[in-house]
Amino acid sequence: QNTATGALHISATRDSLMHDLADWLVKQTLQRPEAPFRIALSGGSTPQHLYRLMTEEPYVSRFPWQRMQFFLGDDRFVPHDHADSNYGMIRRLLFSRVPVPAENIFPMPDKGTAEQAAKDYEATLKQIYHGDALQAGKPLFDVNLLGLGTDGHTASLFPGQPVLQERTAWVAPCVPPVAPHTRLTLTYPAIHASRHVIFLVEGADKKEAVTRVRAQDPACPASAITSAGNLIWFLDQPAAPAPQN
Ligand code: 6PG
Repeated sequence: QNTATGALHISATRDSLMHDLADWLVKQTLQRPEAPFRIALSGGSTPQHLYRLMTEEPYVSRFPWQRMQFFLGDDRFVPHDHADSNYGMIRRLLFSRVPVPAENIFPMPDKGTAEQAAKDYEATLKQIYHGDALQAGKPLFDVNLLGLGTDGHTASLFPGQPVLQERTAWVAPCVPPVAPHTRLTLTYPAIHASRHVIFLVEGADKKEAVTRVRAQDPACPASAITSAGNLIWFLDQPAAPAPQN
């Protein structure tokens, strides 16, 4: 299933959820040992537990860091050392603790205008995509890791925003209704260009949003997320929707 009603992986607790997803990610990196493994990471608080876990045994020695390439699914358009920068958070928790070559890390630009930064990031993605002979005609990302807001937003695709209508550009600036910062976000077509789209969601406060998105509630931007390959929900029990009878 490659729509937002995708497959469910339910773990008993937040801790077992993060271990299950770290295990799954290691397995994905072994699928195509000859190729770079491309993953777009999410911001927010939920994935921080995962990023920390990836820097510890048994995972830190199982990931093929040298051939992994890291991207951002979205970021605040702030300097990388700003407290609200997703890249800054991931650098602190993950990149600064594992041997990923610096040239394999692709933060969203933090200088100039948000419009130009979006264009520049898209150019970076296209250059990588078109420059990789192994990639021809295949999805750009191996994994796109997404979170979910209680309002059904994901990445920086917020309800009612013009970016929800974007069907060609891969990266767009947007001004979310609630947050102080302009954002840059991958668009629906960019997220679709993934072998696996993963929603990582935990906590009882997200159960209602998960249920609405899996029921394809059009008011939730996450409902329109699709994948060129698989779409899997990694949930802890409290966030899991009631079993459909
Ligand atoms: C971000 C994320 C955003 C996040 C949700 C859930 O940049 O903040 O892309 O979409 O995944 O807001 O955030 P929590 O994990 O903190 O609940």
